[in-house]
Amino acid sequence: MGKGKGIAERQAELAAELVARMEREVKQGNPVDTALSQLLRRRRELGGRDRRFLSELVFSHFRWKGWTAPLALLGPEAAAAAAYLLDAAAPHPAARAMLELCRLPGDGLAPQGGRTLAERGQALVDLWRGRLPDNLAPALLEPRALCPAWLGDELWVPPGAEPGAHLAHCLEAFQLRPPTWLAVRPGFLDALAAQLGPRAPLTPHPRLTRAAALGGNPDLDPARRKLPGFFQVQDLASQAVCEVCAPRAGERWWDACAGAGGKALGLLERMRGHGQVLASDVRRGVLESARRRAEEAGLEGLELAALDASRDDPPRDERDGLGGYDGVLVDAPCSGLGTWARNPDARWRLARADVAARADLQVRILERVAAAVRPGGVLVYSVCTLTRAEGPEAVRRFLARVAGFSPEPCPHPLDGEPTDGTAWVWPWDGPANGMFMARLRRAGR
Ligand SMILES: C[S@@+](CC[C@H](N)C(=O)[O-])C[C@H]1O[C@@H](n2cnc3c(N)ncnc32)[C@H](O)[C@@H]1O
Repeated sequence: MGKGKGIAERQAELAAELVARMEREVKQGNPVDTALSQLLRRRRELGGRDRRFLSELVFSHFRWKGWTAPLALLGPEAAAAAAYLLDAAAPHPAARAMLELCRLPGDGLAPQGGRTLAERGQALVDLWRGRLPDNLAPALLEPRALCPAWLGDELWVPPGAEPGAHLAHCLEAFQLRPPTWLAVRPGFLDALAAQLGPRAPLTPHPRLTRAAALGGNPDLDPARRKLPGFFQVQDLASQAVCEVCAPRAGERWWDACAGAGGKALGLLERMRGHGQVLASDVRRGVLESARRRAEEAGLEGLELAALDASRDDPPRDERDGLGGYDGVLVDAPCSGLGTWARNPDARWRLARADVAARADLQVRILERVAAAVRPGGVLVYSVCTLTRAEGPEAVRRFLARVAGFSPEPCPHPLDGEPTDGTAWVWPWDGPANGMFMARLRRAGR
């Protein structure tokens, strides 16, 4: 970062500018991760540490804005710096400069990383005591203020759980960024760990042996060059979906909402090169990255198609036409509550009405693709969200409309416990993204 003004002051200025721009993106419904990385890429003068600080600050701003908003009365820099410090493990000179710009003491809020929600709330009140009206604190420092007010009404509450306690558990989890998870090809964990070194330790999941949580915040590009295609960044919950699919060698699958192909590659990998996956998505552009990643990983058997799964049929197979897939995965577009810890801006981009609209789309997609499952085949439905409407209720609606499918009991992918054919990954499992999954078997052979 340039000279002239103090470095911290210039970083503070840029941080405030970025937060304001990202607020505008969120108002237009655009995800911050994409907009921010495009913007930071254009600022060539920034070093790696500057970028890390700025992106941490922006994400912290959206994570804590339900609490820090009153500080914006003293200046937007105060709110953003306080949010940064609520997450941070160490002080930062630019955060100090931002507080001072708003006439707050630069050391008025110690870094709160690792503290409880109650401790962080208290530290925030201590920062603004005497500068903002005292009566702001009790209502604003409720965990519920950290997310949209309708959240509790839409959440699925597991049988036997107390709704208030379940909501509190979710709110707490949304404030903690989960680690990055890698999906590592069997047999390559040690080679990858050696390549990443001790500052980026890998912690394998006890049951999903391909999954490893990554410590530190390393640049993965050198490891990608050294071990091309042997690992991919993939959340634990997404890997759990591939486990629930449990494809067998020689099968033919259709991943009907494939996006950039993370799960499609996971399916191919599990079939050990003896299987086929049609990966389709309504966005043609994202499929190209699925092709590139499959090539990099040396995985054969991937076919791509741009399809609207709520309307279009997959290309007819010459052998058996429609109704021929051993398995169809619908990793459906959803409200994304399960990603609110990783992408905190998502909570401010979603309207309550979106939940019902996505649920309707999910049921339409399930109804449409069901015909492509061969008799005796499997339909797996997954959504990275935690709502009732998009979870068990969407499955119930599908089963009421389409005859011949029923949930197939299977072990829970993360702990092996028996399930009724539906399973949740909660954000505190792992910790990772939250996810709902259902495995449905079509009658016949
Ligand atoms: C949850 S994401 C899928 C992520 C992907 N399976 C992965 O593992 O990376 C949902 C995907 O559904 C796609 N989508 C939305 N509406 C669709 C539709 N009507 N038909 C097919 N795909 C759709 C979106 O473009 C998005 O890529």
